[in-house]
Amino acid sequence: MCGIVGYIGQQDTKDILLTGLEKLEYRGYDSAGIATLNDKGVNVSKVKGRIATLREAVDESIKSTQGIGHTRWATHGVPSELNAHPHQSTSGRFTIVHNGVIENYVDVRDEYLENVELKSDTDTEIIVQLIEVLHNDMNDVAAAFRKAVELLTGSYAIALLDAENEDTIYVAKNKSPLLVGLGDDFNMVASDSMAALHVTDQFLELMDKETVIVRRDGVEIQKLDGTKVSREPFTAEIDSSDIEKGTYPHFMLKEIDEQPFVIRKIIQEYQDENDNIKLDADVRAAMKACDRIYIIAAGTSYHAGLLGKQFIEKLANIPVEVHVASEFSYNMPLLSENPLFVFISQSGETADSRSVLVQTKELGHPALTVTNVPGSTLSREADYTLHLHAGPEIAVASTKAYTAQMAVLAILAVDTARAKGIELDFDPMQELGIVANTMEALADQKEKFEDLAREYLQTTRNCFFIGRGTDYYVGLEGSLKLKEISYIQAEGFAGGELKHGTIALIEEGTPVIALATQENVNYSIRGNVQEVEARGANSMIISMKGLDKEGDAFVIPQVHELLTPLVSVLPMQLISYYAALHRDCDVDKPRNLAKSVTVE
Ligand code: M6R
Repeated sequence: MCGIVGYIGQQDTKDILLTGLEKLEYRGYDSAGIATLNDKGVNVSKVKGRIATLREAVDESIKSTQGIGHTRWATHGVPSELNAHPHQSTSGRFTIVHNGVIENYVDVRDEYLENVELKSDTDTEIIVQLIEVLHNDMNDVAAAFRKAVELLTGSYAIALLDAENEDTIYVAKNKSPLLVGLGDDFNMVASDSMAALHVTDQFLELMDKETVIVRRDGVEIQKLDGTKVSREPFTAEIDSSDIEKGTYPHFMLKEIDEQPFVIRKIIQEYQDENDNIKLDADVRAAMKACDRIYIIAAGTSYHAGLLGKQFIEKLANIPVEVHVASEFSYNMPLLSENPLFVFISQSGETADSRSVLVQTKELGHPALTVTNVPGSTLSREADYTLHLHAGPEIAVASTKAYTAQMAVLAILAVDTARAKGIELDFDPMQELGIVANTMEALADQKEKFEDLAREYLQTTRNCFFIGRGTDYYVGLEGSLKLKEISYIQAEGFAGGELKHGTIALIEEGTPVIALATQENVNYSIRGNVQEVEARGANSMIISMKGLDKEGDAFVIPQVHELLTPLVSVLPMQLISYYAALHRDCDVDKPRNLAKSVTVE
């Protein structure tokens, strides 16, 4: 979590840093700060709160062409001005911003910083104080920086200013993402290319345990032992307009509306001119060769994984296990002889998933990452990648990435089935085309979902989602969407499981949202709705054409039964959006959260 940015060039740096930080705010937004350097020294501005508050706090009169900035999601120490980055060494000579978690910060503090009075509760301050202590001995900033980095364990993306050097930003990276942006007479560093797209589209990728000396007229990448590394830049493919809200009030609403386009893009990207599935032959071979698939993911991506299991087992006849990444790392199940690990991650940066990837790579198992960010850590470190083509997802609540994940997994399942010689009466591209049209029809009925949100969720403290089969999985996603952005306590349950405990929570007026889009469980889920209604629940049924009954709150047009989750989730997303809006919540940046969870 957290986002860092740095600039060294000819322009005044404040606005470049602040604009960059605004683009990184999705990574954390509880406090923020910038430090700029000029011939009078370093000037630091920090606030508790968002970049908008920081903008107001920054002294406009100070001019500088070199600086670093940070937007924070607290890990060590409460969100406060004191704990906000940048942090400075005792003498004020060194100033640092950091994204990541220093695991051995207590050991470093006890061994090297006995005589240093620390000002904050952060692990980050340990790094900058360590650099100063080492520099006092070594008298060489670059060497002290490298030595400090060598002593750290954990994850870090670091940018450091030296008040006595107006032509360098020192940078290091391990496990946390970091890129160098290249310009004609300037260079930048940023956690994500989005933070620098307003000035350049040329970037250098950094590998773990590399340091970089960033100057106005060039950059020098080094390994920790000082050996130089040369690397070609790449052109970022994101269009800067993709990361603007345009006329939408929130990114979440924009991204919900983008879903039909994303599905059509996926059809286009995964189909060749003969209408065959276009997929990396190595991915196909890996799918064919494995005897069991282990899907590893977190949050919404985990929910997409549950549906991916359905596609792969039903179509390609390969057993699939779906695991929450943070649990798998510490409690690995017995593995099959030829497993294939499939990591599903919008960002490709989720630390919990990455830690499983590291573990399973050590065991020699092949890995496929399904991600929206092909250059991301999970993508780089896995053997194969499938791209979601969803475009940047900015709202913390994932919407279009979820449906894209399901679409790509469905295509993968069909491709594997065909590769194994299994005959299918299912044309994924044609069916996904119908899904895209249906999504459009649903997105056009926003007033209906706004009314349902008002009627059922305006004042409630809790809400239950129930379903059976794949509807249960979509209910889990619906409950996650609702709780994370509206703060209504929302839980998803398998309809048949209610009577085994949960039904005790149903009271007069408790909202229960039931999904009824599956023929084989239509009768039984409706029975479960009767049971909660008999205990006072205020229930709403979202059903599918052909399975609908009088009184259903909303009937979704019919799509292929396997693909119903791609459309039945839209009502969940829109109802959650409007519930949050009616409650005056910050839809795109809910409290305590960040878009990519890069700490375990
Ligand atoms: O980037 P990832 O898909 O790996 O992120 C995993 C979860 O943190 C993420 O899906 C999270 O649950 C969503 N933002 C919730 O809407």
